[in-house]
Amino acid sequence: MNSFTFKNPVRLYFGKGEIRQLKKELPRYGRNILLVYGGGSIKRNGIYDEVISILNELDLNIFELGGVEPNPRVETARKGIEICKRESIDFVLAVGGGSVIDCSKLIVAGAKLEEDPWKIVTNQVPVKDALPLGTVLTLAATGSEMNANSVITNGATKEKYGWSSGKVFPKFSILDPTYTMTVPKDQTVYGIVDMMSHVFEQYFHDAENTLIMDELCEGVLRTVIETAPKLVEDLENYELRETILLSGTIALNGMLSMGSEGDWATHEIEHAVSAVYDIPHGGGLAILFPNWMKHVMHVNPARFARLATKVFQVDPSNKSDEEIALEGIERLKAFWTTLGAPSRLKDYGIDDSKLDVLVGKAMANGPIGTFKVLDEEDVREIFRMSL
Ligand code: NZQ
Ligand code: ZN
Repeated sequence: MNSFTFKNPVRLYFGKGEIRQLKKELPRYGRNILLVYGGGSIKRNGIYDEVISILNELDLNIFELGGVEPNPRVETARKGIEICKRESIDFVLAVGGGSVIDCSKLIVAGAKLEEDPWKIVTNQVPVKDALPLGTVLTLAATGSEMNANSVITNGATKEKYGWSSGKVFPKFSILDPTYTMTVPKDQTVYGIVDMMSHVFEQYFHDAENTLIMDELCEGVLRTVIETAPKLVEDLENYELRETILLSGTIALNGMLSMGSEGDWATHEIEHAVSAVYDIPHGGGLAILFPNWMKHVMHVNPARFARLATKVFQVDPSNKSDEEIALEGIERLKAFWTTLGAPSRLKDYGIDDSKLDVLVGKAMANGPIGTFKVLDEEDVREIFRMSL
């Protein structure tokens, strides 16, 4: 394993009714609260009313920023930052999926800066301080509730990048599986694809002696693979939602990359696609990931063969590592397709007319990946395979 330092300061409240923990947490932070949410799902399913009634009970001054988009925009974060500065906001409470949480992370960091928040996203200014943030998660997918990452889109330039700062870890996150029961089937599937992809990104590395981490990754994947097909047929099943919700958090709270450096090239390629075409992140990953795997498996076929046998139950008898690996990749693709995920860019009406633009955006900061460093021609080939 590589040497590493691990710290995750997020206090996680997990379970039915844990929203009550707001009563304990919020009085620690001052009276002016900015409540951030998305396009209205929390108003339709009653979560908004529950949160507001607790905030009123605590006699807090509530300011609101609704309308955060899936693939959240820097333009929306700017509005939140303005409210924070104008109203002397003490605490930001994000209630929603990864998009709402990511936008809130930029708001809490931007509220402490005079410069434009896009400079944070593009690493032109460091984050030295941030307002405290808490989250109530409503969709299992990104792990944003327990990590320091945020992914933001610039609507004007059609760029989408991830950034990270230890200053924007949520102080606490509340995860009630019942809050995820209204997530529709398509978004549930995108979330499942996303969390599995996060495990893959951390599983493919070149560190040695990572058995404990390999087994953990494979265990998370097997759990999701066992649970997901049942969940898409039974969206209001508490136990299944509970398993998927915690899987999403564990998949990207930093724990699975202890001792190794993962390869996030597929995420960077997908961010280019969703920046230009505004498609759901998980949908893009379902299309791209199996093709990234096929393109890079020659780097270490034994690693892919291990995944195929331990996670996708491929029978290895009388087969080469390459054959086992390919069978595993085909099983992954079939698994996602059976759940209802897309498998080609044309499923979103995307053709090769903007191929150069996509390659340029994916490579905006130079070659990507670590397990296999991808150059322009590699990225172009992965796009071609995905058309
Ligand atoms: O906007 P509302 O009305 O709330 O509806 C949302 C949205 O339309 C809806 N939804 C959320 N909770 C719901 C619900 N609908 C019914 N019932 C509920 N309980 O679902 C839709 C998608 O929400 P969104 O927050 O966009 O989904 P997700 O959590 O998948 O987040 C995606 C964003 O996170 C980024 C992605 O790139 C994308 O921008 N990522 C963030 C990461 C991170 N911070 O660590 C890592 C990921 O790899 C990812 O890149
Ligand atoms: Zn992701």
